[in-house]
Amino acid sequence: MVIALEPFFESFFYPICPVSKLKKGPFAFTLMKQPIILWLDESGEPAAIDNKCCHRWATLTNGKVVKGNIQCSNHGWEYNSKGQCVKIPHYSGDEIPARYKIKAYHCKKSYDYVWVALKDPIMPIPDIPEFFNTNYRTIHFENRSWRCSPLAGIENNFDNAHHHYVHTQLGDKASAVPRRPEAIQEMENGLYFKSAINNYGNPLQAKAWNVKSNSKMNLPREFFWFIPFTVKMVLYLPNDLCNITIYSYTPIDETTCLWVSFIIRNDREVDVKTSDIVELSMAISYEDEAILEQVSPDVPLSLKEQKNMESDYVSLLIRKRLLELSSSYYNYNSL
Ligand code: FES
Ligand SMILES: [Fe+2]
Repeated sequence: MVIALEPFFESFFYPICPVSKLKKGPFAFTLMKQPIILWLDESGEPAAIDNKCCHRWATLTNGKVVKGNIQCSNHGWEYNSKGQCVKIPHYSGDEIPARYKIKAYHCKKSYDYVWVALKDPIMPIPDIPEFFNTNYRTIHFENRSWRCSPLAGIENNFDNAHHHYVHTQLGDKASAVPRRPEAIQEMENGLYFKSAINNYGNPLQAKAWNVKSNSKMNLPREFFWFIPFTVKMVLYLPNDLCNITIYSYTPIDETTCLWVSFIIRNDREVDVKTSDIVELSMAISYEDEAILEQVSPDVPLSLKEQKNMESDYVSLLIRKRLLELSSSYYNYNSL
């Protein structure tokens, strides 16, 4: 069973692409195996509908936006953001029947991204107040498709035992044993986790974090898991720099998810260049991607199928919470 394709996960918002991408024209994406097409309507709001014209089923991938509606490239039928066909160039009838329609999805703008939910969302888009704080700046990374389960992606962020083996740019090669967490607390929309790691500064960190290279440091960190596949990681550097990284894993199909990430931090370009921040973050994420692509994509939600150790505790809490939520969802939907 592939967890991320379970119908339960259709009831959440996922980041799909930067809003700026839609300013260049329609964008086709596959969310949980459902092909969708996204564009900006006349008021600049994003829209998402099935990527299949209801006339002769052409995709709308090569369509164009005409006065905020999407026009099929085959015979020119036009659809509004609700998926309703509003224009048939060759049609001479008085009114276009209401059934000439394509399925539309929940679609919103947040944090410079377009988010889509295939069914009525049971949770809001994660709350990240620092994004709106003028003392902070935001740096977006290029999205990439990772050949792994979104669940594995999320759990990797809470895995304090992998740095020693996976990362050359994070952690301390001299200490394989992870530190114990300082706090773990369930939240209404996820989980809070506080845990520091031992770290040995390197040249990339020195540039990106304005810290000393070749020296040991304690890296205090706080994590906020937002159900189901988004995490906010706050890193507190010794120089009062607060480096917040958002990681989100959007389910695409049985084997793939979209890695979406951006950093929010309380410094300016004159303090640290964007290119130095990107260089460190991408070096770390490439290392995570490489190992996660070696993990089977059919990661189970079950707590027992895989063997566990102490540092997997947060992963188990995440699975338990998703199991509880999904079983109440399925019970409710079978009433
Ligand atoms: S297939 Fe789209 S208008 Fe004919
Ligand atoms: Fe990692």
